Amino acid sequence: MTDPAPEPLSTWRRLAEGAVLLDGFHALKHAVRFGAEVPVAVTADRRAALALADELASDVRETLTALLTEVPESTYRSLVPRPHPTAVAALAVRPSREANLRKLARTPRATPVVVLDNPRNLGNAGAVIRLAAGFGATGVVTTGTLDPWHPTVVRGGAGLHFATAVERVSVEELPPGPLFALDPEGDDVRGIKLPDDAVLAFGSERSGLSAGLRARADHLVALPMRPQVSSYNLATSVAMTLYHWSLTGFQSPTSDSRRPSGDGP
Ligand SMILES: C[S@@+](CC[C@H](N)C(=O)[O-])C[C@H]1O[C@@H](n2cnc3c(N)ncnc32)[C@H](O)[C@@H]1O
Repeated sequence: MTDPAPEPLSTWRRLAEGAVLLDGFHALKHAVRFGAEVPVAVTADRRAALALADELASDVRETLTALLTEVPESTYRSLVPRPHPTAVAALAVRPSREANLRKLARTPRATPVVVLDNPRNLGNAGAVIRLAAGFGATGVVTTGTLDPWHPTVVRGGAGLHFATAVERVSVEELPPGPLFALDPEGDDVRGIKLPDDAVLAFGSERSGLSAGLRARADHLVALPMRPQVSSYNLATSVAMTLYHWSLTGFQSPTSDSRRPSGDGP
């Protein structure tokens, strides 16, 4: 292997604070696919990374070829908190809050917004962002203290923060649209059509929906669940609800012919 070009490392050090860490090949692939600005990308094994691109991401292969610089394994390890099996890492520019808030506020809206009301688990938040991206939701907003752009959330979201608008807001700042709050005490979702402009709200893993969010809700909606089971996991609840919306909603993501084939995790 040749000596690392010094330029990517100095760019990395200059940008690391404030940038979004894309941890692993799949996060980089998704971010590039959905238009992220990626000023620097490194790998400890360029040949293996480009072989993955050939196999899983021919649509962005050219961009990845231009972006990826090989660095020694030890350098790669020094840049990431936890090495990823693909030995790929990159930094992306976080989309502007103003632009995301504009997207979230725009009406009429063709797909729902997901609200996580004071979520506590970073992995759940990442999984929900991945779901929202998969279903083409307009965005995911969180209330409370959890940062939806925390590196662990970005890792869980597999770089799909760039495919949907992700922001933290207060209950008072929720995007417009009929507010459907998910709660086991609500009306059975199977009898309800969720509109394309719905705001779909889910409670915290610990305590469910906050009083403030409940007070704003237009409808309380329950997922089918047999007696004696207290609740579902948060991300699982979002998955079921988005799936229910997709049955009658604006578009079916799986029928999108532009979806690249042979995609990885
Ligand atoms: C893990 S649960 C919260 C459990 C919490 N201990 C409580 O007291 O509600 C997280 C969220 O998932 C959603 N959820 C879970 N099971 C549900 C169900 N059967 N029907 C509707 N929503 C559900 C709700 O939005 C809930 O606030």
